[in-house]
Amino acid sequence: MSDRVNRRLSRRSLMRAAAALAGAGALPTRWAIAQARPLKIGLMLPYSGTFAQLGENITAAIELLFAEKGGKIGGRELQLIKLDDESKPENAPQNADRLIKRDQVDVLIGTVHSGVQMGIHKVVSESGTLTIVPNAGNVAVTRELCAKNVFRCSFTNWQPAYGMGVAAAKKGYKKSVWVTWDYAAGAESGAGFKEAFEKGGGQVAPNLTLPFPQTNFQPLLAQLPGLGVDVVGSFFAGGGAVQFVKEYAAAGIKIPLCGSGFLTEGTLPAQGAAAEGIETALHYGDGLENATNVAFRKAFKDKTGREADVYAVQGYDAAQLLAVGLEAVNGRIEDEANLYKALRGATISSPRGPISMSPAQNVTQNIYLRKVEGGQNKVVGIAVENLADPGTGCKLA
Ligand code: PHB
Repeated sequence: MSDRVNRRLSRRSLMRAAAALAGAGALPTRWAIAQARPLKIGLMLPYSGTFAQLGENITAAIELLFAEKGGKIGGRELQLIKLDDESKPENAPQNADRLIKRDQVDVLIGTVHSGVQMGIHKVVSESGTLTIVPNAGNVAVTRELCAKNVFRCSFTNWQPAYGMGVAAAKKGYKKSVWVTWDYAAGAESGAGFKEAFEKGGGQVAPNLTLPFPQTNFQPLLAQLPGLGVDVVGSFFAGGGAVQFVKEYAAAGIKIPLCGSGFLTEGTLPAQGAAAEGIETALHYGDGLENATNVAFRKAFKDKTGREADVYAVQGYDAAQLLAVGLEAVNGRIEDEANLYKALRGATISSPRGPISMSPAQNVTQNIYLRKVEGGQNKVVGIAVENLADPGTGCKLA
């Protein structure tokens, strides 16, 4: 272990000891100083590249929740430190390290891209920093590599795709293929879709892939008509999803396109008529009339001028979860036992509906079936109610 990590760890243990003494009334001054310091929250997110809009919406929604709390949670002022991870996995460990060791953040909220999440996870599993995942779905983080300090407010890549597989089989489709980027999110969503679609009696051809974040879709599109499939499933997101859906329509392919809901999420104004009629499954959609959602969508639009999407919801809920934890310990983030107890037991009124944490600390939630109609992802049903990721290999339970 490096000297810097040692220094960080000993600071953490000192803070814990101080917390205990302050609780006993022995160290009021030192404790008061610690409490006066704002809580530093590192936002490690993409602010450039194909996922830039995703990072922006997550950030805006986190800021919204903090503003709604008056800029303070559990009595602590909040200081945000933003870092653009560019969705580049190769820079992720160094970037996470910078936030934790140089900027000394108390909490890390990040990120969007599954490969970058793996880099963050390596660093925070060692440092013990409280980490809340506001998007990236790579299953390992809440399966075999789960860690007590890591919570996910978004989904696993398996969850929405599994829901889509259930819905596609129920519609009577028999043969499909998954088209996607060749990285964790593409492969894991493909696996979720295949599991459910095959359980429902369907068959899935081997994935068609291209490297992330490439958008040279023509060679893949050219193969589709010859595969004999009656539905095409897909995972793309952000700028890549905009282009894929437009090129699919422009190619005149008559096979229905479906997918994990990211395919049409936050992208509809840019996709226009090309997206009409596409069915997808996701833990959010248009037309959810619960009070939290109505208020959230208005506040988000007032703040940003944009419609909220699933990324905004996940950012809002990451901040809501942090608030539950900090309020339970009156801002004393060093009180890990009570902090983690509160986080694990949290039930949150999300714009997507009520959510809770699974034993592996991933969110349990409804997966909605949506259909693009009139430029909206209209919820047309529930593909799977209260779906928990299996959390296979996680020993936290
Ligand atoms: C991921 O890399 O896990 C990922 C990225 C963008 C999405 C969903 C998942 O919209």
